[in-house]
Amino acid sequence: MNKVHVKASTKEYDVTIGTGLDVGSLLSEVHKICKIMLVSDDTVYGLYGKKTEDSLKTAGFEVFSFVFEHGEKSKNISVAEKLMIEMTEKGITKIDLLLALGGGVVGDLTGFAASVYLRGMDFVQVPTTLLAAVDSSVGGKTAVDLPNGKNLVGAFHQPVAVFCDVDSFQSLPAEIYSDGMAEAVKYGMIYDSDLFGQIENGTISDEDLVKRSVEIKAEVVEKDEFDKGPRHILNFGHTLGHAIETLSGYSIGHGSGVAMGMAVLGAVYLSEEDSARLNAVLKKYGLYNIPSYDIHETAVLAKVDKKAHGNLIRAVLPVAIGEVKLQDVTVEEWEEILRKGIGRLS
Ligand SMILES: NC(=O)c1ccc[n+]([C@@H]2O[C@H](COP(=O)([O-])OP(=O)(O)OC[C@H]3O[C@@H](n4cnc5c(N)ncnc54)[C@H](O)[C@@H]3O)[C@@H](O)[C@H]2O)c1
Ligand SMILES: [Zn+2]
Repeated sequence: MNKVHVKASTKEYDVTIGTGLDVGSLLSEVHKICKIMLVSDDTVYGLYGKKTEDSLKTAGFEVFSFVFEHGEKSKNISVAEKLMIEMTEKGITKIDLLLALGGGVVGDLTGFAASVYLRGMDFVQVPTTLLAAVDSSVGGKTAVDLPNGKNLVGAFHQPVAVFCDVDSFQSLPAEIYSDGMAEAVKYGMIYDSDLFGQIENGTISDEDLVKRSVEIKAEVVEKDEFDKGPRHILNFGHTLGHAIETLSGYSIGHGSGVAMGMAVLGAVYLSEEDSARLNAVLKKYGLYNIPSYDIHETAVLAKVDKKAHGNLIRAVLPVAIGEVKLQDVTVEEWEEILRKGIGRLS
């Protein structure tokens, strides 16, 4: 079992990573016994709901569950509202806990509800996808989507603990596992060429992959919890990725969108050798696709992305494997960069 400590200014907490974790007993070490509203989607609840409820009850917690239909389409205000109504009906108060059991959709929506319910309450993340484990469960960004864009409504709200049992990855469909791998590749690209090399060679275990990714995320978040500057590097590949996700009606997963964003920028800014290495790793996980969306439309969507300010887009541009730089570009410049990158990949 590994622990990574996250030192955010608003909260410090541990991310526990291991196999066969007993969530109830681990949680009782860091939080007093209370009511818990377990939030999950139908798929994850079917696989791990009962086991998690039993573990929490055995530890002494009073457990209620709220289950919604899986998929990004559920990450919206109306599902969050249903959850919060259910919480009032079950008498959940500020001293109680929300627990997100699932992928990034469950984690983001649960965190959002925790940030606004009764003006804020504690919540716990139990990520069950690789993506949620390496990325969304750590760092305190919570959100729901609006019909015209992802994550447009949300808050910074850190969890009180994160418990990641890598055993849960066993039931992940290959493409969802790969989606998470895109984020791990991203950490290699922005911060750690050794991690990139280990992913490239296939020599890293899931536990170590999550641990190193969370360490990097924690370091970046500690420097810039509220996303004023340095944290923007975590957005590498995301501006185009989010636009692709939105335009595809979310039939293209988050990681696949991010992978396309990284490959396109890599083709413009990296050496031929580094760009080829990036593309080869993405290919290995079925993540290498050339975007076929209207470039102008993706650039227009970039303007409503959270990282846009005024008419400028905060671009995260690769310098080499393990290093990126931040640069503000106009929408027209962004469109030109995408055109060039997609042209080179095609
Ligand atoms: N808050 C952040 O910092 C942050 C960072 C990255 C991504 N995100 C968000 O995360 C979301 C994507 O996360 P995701 O890819 O985990 O999506 P997800 O939660 O939709 O999970 C993907 C699918 O896998 C299923 N699933 C989950 N765990 C499973 C398991 N162990 N076995 C079998 N099936 C399982 C789910 O039911 C779902 O159908 C996006 O909404 C994205 O915006 C947030
Ligand atoms: Zn992401």
